[in-house]
Amino acid sequence: RAATVHEAESATISRGAVESNHAGFTGGGFVNYENVQGSYVQWSVNAPQAGPAALTLRFANGTTTDRPLDIMVNGAVVSAGRAFQGTGAWTTWRTTTLTVNLKAGANTIRATATTSGGGPNVDHISL
Ligand code: GCU
Ligand code: CA
Repeated sequence: RAATVHEAESATISRGAVESNHAGFTGGGFVNYENVQGSYVQWSVNAPQAGPAALTLRFANGTTTDRPLDIMVNGAVVSAGRAFQGTGAWTTWRTTTLTVNLKAGANTIRATATTSGGGPNVDHISL
């Protein structure tokens, strides 16, 4: 099936702000994580049936320092401290993809900063 885009700016945000000052995002903007450990974005996504799905996250990191995120699905960490390396500029957006297992119906996907640098800027997920 075709992937659906779920914008970060429409998700639940803990310690982050919706901004639009770095071009290249989809939708109305992106989330600028507060540069603290524990800041997160959480999406609710619906799956028609249980099973594996390719989860793509689109991000930018204008620093030269990794901004790792824990990727959680339905409360369980599925990718711990996943690397979000520098992309060269805050306007340079890249994607990273992992396979996650979903249940039928509503699922939560959370991306939580694991270091004091916070997260990268996050544009959206698609799956
Ligand atoms: C800059 C940039 C932000 C980014 C921040 C950071 O302020 O404009 O978009 O989130 O750096 O380092 O996290
Ligand atoms: Ca930030």
